[in-house]
Amino acid sequence: MKQCEYKQAVSNINRPNRIALAVSQSADEEKTNIITLGWFMRTSISPPMFAISVGVSRFSYELLSDNRKFVLAFPSQKMVEKTIQCGTQSGSDVDKIKEFNIKTQNGKLSSIPLLSNAVANFECKNVSQIRSGDHTIFIGEVKYSWINQDPDIKLLLSVEDNEKYEVLHKSKNHTFGLIK
Ligand SMILES: Cc1cc2nc3c(=O)[nH]c(=O)nc-3n(C[C@H](O)[C@H](O)[C@H](O)COP(=O)(O)O)c2cc1C
Repeated sequence: MKQCEYKQAVSNINRPNRIALAVSQSADEEKTNIITLGWFMRTSISPPMFAISVGVSRFSYELLSDNRKFVLAFPSQKMVEKTIQCGTQSGSDVDKIKEFNIKTQNGKLSSIPLLSNAVANFECKNVSQIRSGDHTIFIGEVKYSWINQDPDIKLLLSVEDNEKYEVLHKSKNHTFGLIK
């Protein structure tokens, strides 16, 4: 082992990584937004729970603090462009669902929509939140789970550009693709 800068060590453990999209909504249901997330995890089997880590400067942070529910959706290969758009633009400037033409459908828990082209959607009720440096961890209990029935749908990942993966998007900061 050789001691190094944090950034160098972290860059070695970053990929492959699942990506998620968190859909949130203001309490008055006027605004609905989607954020791309790399930082999330399952945190309980019974009841099932997911934690998501959202920067306090994000528009999503405001909505998640305002309305304690969210949908966690896992993007498919059909959502590459939308995953980048939701992860590079803010809902404070743009209505992402409308502008990026994101297909949605009704869920059961609330008026927060499911993402129709996702591999799976989880409707969560936020049961706890913890400040973690410049991010806040929102812990959601899964109330309803949904899967996509399209047999061709595949889970989009943040990957490395090598022979193990089929790269679908590559830019300076992000490489997205599928496991071959
Ligand atoms: C692949 C990827 C992963 C990201 N992961 C996170 C994350 O885990 N937490 C976070 O707060 N922002 C993350 N971001 C950045 C936000 O998605 C981005 O700042 C977004 O524009 C915020 O949208 P909002 O202001 O509408 O909430 C990620 C972006 C990308 C492209």
